[in-house]
Amino acid sequence: MSDQQHVYPVREDFAAKAWADKATYQAMYQRSLDDPEGFWAEQAKRLDWFTSPTKIKHTVFDTHNVDIRWFEDGTLNASVNCLDRHLETRGDQPAIIWEGDDPKDSKTLTYRQLHERTCQLANALKSLGVARGDTVTLYMPMIPEAAMAMLACARIGAIHSVVFGGFSPDALAQRVKDAGSKVVITADESVRGGKNVPLKDNVDAALTREGTDVAEKVLVVQRTGGDIEWQDGRDVWYHDLVDQQSSDCPAEPMGAEDPLFILYTSGSTGTPKGLKHTTGGYLLHAAMTHQYVFDYQDGEIYWCTADVGWVTGHSYIVYGPLANGAISLMFEGVPSYPTNGRMGEVVDKHKVNILYTAPTAVRALMAHGDNVMDSSKRDSLRLLGSVGEPINPEAWEWFYRVIGNEQCPIVDTWWQTETGGIMIAPLPGATDLKPGSATLPFFGVQPALVDNEGNLLEGATEGNLVILDSWPGQARSIWKNHERFLQTYFTTYKGMYFTGDGCRRDEDGYYWITGRVDDVLNVSGHRMGTAEIESSLVAHDAVAEAAVVGFPHDIKGQGIYIYVTLADGVEPSDELKKELTQWVRKDIGPIASPDVIQWAPGLPKTRSGKIMRRILRKIAANECDGLGDTSTLADPSVVEELIEHRAIK
Ligand code: PRX
Repeated sequence: MSDQQHVYPVREDFAAKAWADKATYQAMYQRSLDDPEGFWAEQAKRLDWFTSPTKIKHTVFDTHNVDIRWFEDGTLNASVNCLDRHLETRGDQPAIIWEGDDPKDSKTLTYRQLHERTCQLANALKSLGVARGDTVTLYMPMIPEAAMAMLACARIGAIHSVVFGGFSPDALAQRVKDAGSKVVITADESVRGGKNVPLKDNVDAALTREGTDVAEKVLVVQRTGGDIEWQDGRDVWYHDLVDQQSSDCPAEPMGAEDPLFILYTSGSTGTPKGLKHTTGGYLLHAAMTHQYVFDYQDGEIYWCTADVGWVTGHSYIVYGPLANGAISLMFEGVPSYPTNGRMGEVVDKHKVNILYTAPTAVRALMAHGDNVMDSSKRDSLRLLGSVGEPINPEAWEWFYRVIGNEQCPIVDTWWQTETGGIMIAPLPGATDLKPGSATLPFFGVQPALVDNEGNLLEGATEGNLVILDSWPGQARSIWKNHERFLQTYFTTYKGMYFTGDGCRRDEDGYYWITGRVDDVLNVSGHRMGTAEIESSLVAHDAVAEAAVVGFPHDIKGQGIYIYVTLADGVEPSDELKKELTQWVRKDIGPIASPDVIQWAPGLPKTRSGKIMRRILRKIAANECDGLGDTSTLADPSVVEELIEHRAIK
């Protein structure tokens, strides 16, 4: 079926009220390319600056000298933009609506309250010795304190590094150490799906690891009152310290290029990378995309179901919506608790207008059948959004028909931790939709497709997705490792930012992301390096060698398929599979749980010893007939053996 048969044209009633219709999008996009200085100077006015920028864009994408600066002589503070400037006009409007894991738990914080508590927390951080330029690690549940902690850091010029609460103590330790965080903010426990997760215990364990003694203080929110260990002199109760602070905390004037946060993400090699995002460009990109892509209108209730531990939570629960004075719903729980109808029930309870979620959540609901949404009406919804992985057309149609009652456009938003904000997505009043396509670039974004040699490809074609010029929200570097930043993103294709994604462009210029072309997995929208999982496995005594690949998974998008070669003398057993599964969960976190483990007496390697992952991916996907060229294999019989003992038949 051709793409044309799947077009959902822009609805006229939508276009009439939207921030941008077709003509506006086209004119603004064109201007953003023709006159980036003028365009972005104008757009920068949507932020409040202490000193307005006069230097707008200084960006160099040279392989040896990547230098990205936006608005470099401007000064501002992100927390002022997200809080103070709204006090006069919307101080008593909700800023955050919090919905707890338990459907009986919810509360609302107005902009005034959020401002007051953020200032108190900022003063508390100062009293713990945190100063401008210091880093603070957040390992927190989805509670308003997480947003306050981010904003409090921003207020005093400290750099936050949020670590997803599902990561293990080792993963947390690695990130505390790399960031050099003086203070860790956490909670006694988090609550998800009726279960308590021992965050403070994990912090305790993390801080026994080598190199984490930089962390002098642990600030602990009491979320559940569960039993925890206490280290006098290091641990401080949040309520003891924060409640007594003054709510007056002048904001630090930050340079536009001063770091706002570090966020770790996985790559195809090595340890996770701490992407460094700066203040001015990032905030502008987050705010502007939030307004245009979600067509956010004053007073609407907007819900992004992500966790603040990921970039989506940073840009589209906290910074983008709050910079726009929006009402941002924050959900502590999971969509399947207490029942599979929860997502719709939360929409009805809070009259949500805009719902931004992940394809994996849609597919999980879809697997239960249409009735899963019967407990809710969802008639407050006006717009739906998708992020994190390609959304297959079936899931798109189901999202549209069942969740959105055929009333809501869907914005499929492609972007990355590195990009800071949305890069390719429809604007709902401007872009005709095609299920499965992220459609067209946002203002200032110049996507292109290249072949493996880096030649630009024209017209309808498929290739590697690159971005030709900088945009304001782009990560500036990798924390303490600019060389790695250059290597990872700017050496594959000279003079271009390489996304790591494959992509198709159709005859209308629409982009269709096909998934990663490197050794990065996307499991339920969570990004993971195969190398990280492999190095965890080979650290187990029973394992001689391991190779990890993704395979198509109905709900998760990709599942984790592991080939393990056991050490001499070790016998394979189901117990050992369980042990290895636990090992990886403990080492990295439950998100890295293997779906399939196959014992592999040998792995397919080239004569120079390189594992041929292409073959392993095919076997995992059960595409054993099309293995392609195997002539470079050192020992072809290895492949026969793996096919014969394939773990999923
Ligand atoms: O492969 C793309 C996929 O997620 C990767 C980025 O992951 P992360 O940095 O964790 O950020 C996720 C949230 C922005 C991308 O390289 N991806 C993200 N959104 C989409 C997507 N793939 C297809 N369609 C999307 N809408």
